[in-house]
Amino acid sequence: MTRSSPFIIIAIDGGAASGKSSTARALSERFHLMHVDTGSYYRALTAALLQAGVAPGETTSVERALACLHLGSRLQERRAAITINDQTLTDDEIRSPVVNQAVSHFSALPQVRAALLDYQRDQARVAAAHGFRGLVMEGRDIGSVIFPDADLRFFLHADPAERARRRASEGRIDQVAERDRLDSSRATSPLTCPPGAIDIDSTHLSLDEVIEQIAARVAPLLPSVS
Ligand code: DC
Repeated sequence: MTRSSPFIIIAIDGGAASGKSSTARALSERFHLMHVDTGSYYRALTAALLQAGVAPGETTSVERALACLHLGSRLQERRAAITINDQTLTDDEIRSPVVNQAVSHFSALPQVRAALLDYQRDQARVAAAHGFRGLVMEGRDIGSVIFPDADLRFFLHADPAERARRRASEGRIDQVAERDRLDSSRATSPLTCPPGAIDIDSTHLSLDEVIEQIAARVAPLLPSVS
């Protein structure tokens, strides 16, 4: 990487429906960054494990099923989608009520998190190989565990009632508060604002205001694009 072509990593963490995906998508477009929604990775693994007929409590069966899943990446414009055994699941499949209900239980398992750890870190190489100027990765533990040395780390939060309203306006049934409770209380890589991350409360901000706050921090790192 030359000094004239910096490659940056931006981590955006936050609870369910906190605005991470819309924000990350907008940043990826504006700054030509590859977008990785790690929630979609946990969702895809959950759908695959459910399809294999295993439950989160059956850890031996989970381990056995995970060993049969080969993970790959497929670029969909600026977004890197996960492939499992060469298949990409649709948005409807990974955002179904049954996946919404199970995903926090599978994500709490150290075996499931370990299966995605190196894969997520490797997305920086994928982004660089495709000529992106960086990576914007969203999730729950990106700034704390996956990329603690990211150039910029943000933590988005919003009032639970406002987040439930946002999901409902998308026409989706989702247990926002329950998923947050499970994601924040698990032992491995819980949802938390890591020390040093920039905390943004979006309850009373429009999406554009959130994007502009973050973009103002990104632009100086990529001075020729803004
Ligand atoms: O971002 P999302 O709501 O689509 O994420 C779905 C679930 O995936 C979330 O409830 C917890 C899990 N997840 C996680 O444990 N760690 C991440 N980095 C991203 C998501």
